[in-house]
Amino acid sequence: MTVKIFDTPEVQDFLKSVAGFDQAGGDERAKQIMHRLLSDLFKLIDDFDVTPEEYWSAVNLLNALGSQTQFGLLSPGLGFDHYLDMRQDAIDAEAKRTGGTPRTIEGPLYVAGAPVAEGFARMDDGQDPDGETMWLTGQVRDVDGTPIAGAKVEIWHANSKGGYSFFDKTQSEYNLRRTIVTDGEGRYTARSIIPSGYGVPEGAPTDVVLKALGRHGERPAHIHYFISAPGHQHLTTQINLAGDPYTYDDFAFATREELVVPAERIEDPAEIARRELEGPFSEVVFDIELARTDAPELQVRHKRPRAKEDEQDQASRLAGTAKV
Ligand SMILES: [Fe+2]
Repeated sequence: MTVKIFDTPEVQDFLKSVAGFDQAGGDERAKQIMHRLLSDLFKLIDDFDVTPEEYWSAVNLLNALGSQTQFGLLSPGLGFDHYLDMRQDAIDAEAKRTGGTPRTIEGPLYVAGAPVAEGFARMDDGQDPDGETMWLTGQVRDVDGTPIAGAKVEIWHANSKGGYSFFDKTQSEYNLRRTIVTDGEGRYTARSIIPSGYGVPEGAPTDVVLKALGRHGERPAHIHYFISAPGHQHLTTQINLAGDPYTYDDFAFATREELVVPAERIEDPAEIARRELEGPFSEVVFDIELARTDAPELQVRHKRPRAKEDEQDQASRLAGTAKV
């Protein structure tokens, strides 16, 4: 079919009405964005000759995504989270806030209010029989290499089955979630367990979308971080453990070369004893560099619904059923 109606005055006038341009109330930015969004979609329907069957099956899929709270899962899968990071990188570069450890996506599974420890914390509750002991440590530094004492390092990660406490009700409260304040040398250390990677649930709406694109929904084993310190830019990042089949094939596009970190297996009894562990363990070292800024708004994480953080708690809890 060669029918094209998008550029006709009727359709262009119709779009302006739909976007509320002829109404006094509402929000101007919302109107502009909706007008652009609808224009792009209307044009797409014209250009691809989208049939009613295709349109209504898409509506159905959106309903399924919403009812299973999977938009937070599809979002990184379709690259939106990484795209926002790419834009933020470009904004930083233009403002000459360069250097420092790269950011990467937050995902929807942060929970505010984790226990705070000075210098060292044990993160796991000892209830995961399959969890290989992980010794996670590093130093937080300025871009010129000066250690930052008193930096806040918030860490959260999955258990050996790929589940996150709070969202996975089989785990104890705040299991594998801690805030560690760096010591006088800027160091933080955590005893925990090596997390597992995980995948989008088979047959879920997100899986349907990815399969239609010929893609998988797997993530490598990874560990999330928020790092903040006065006078420095807040950093949202995560490390992907080296050697995972999906380290460089993450469906959520979180991998960055600087953020791939090996887990080194250590069996030396002296090293085990030095850390007061019971047996062999895997050590993960992740040093962090924070860029400087005097702007207070850049020293804190951006706002979004997060579990236990604000009045949006319920929304975040729903979003969090997705595993990213
Ligand atoms: Fe995650």
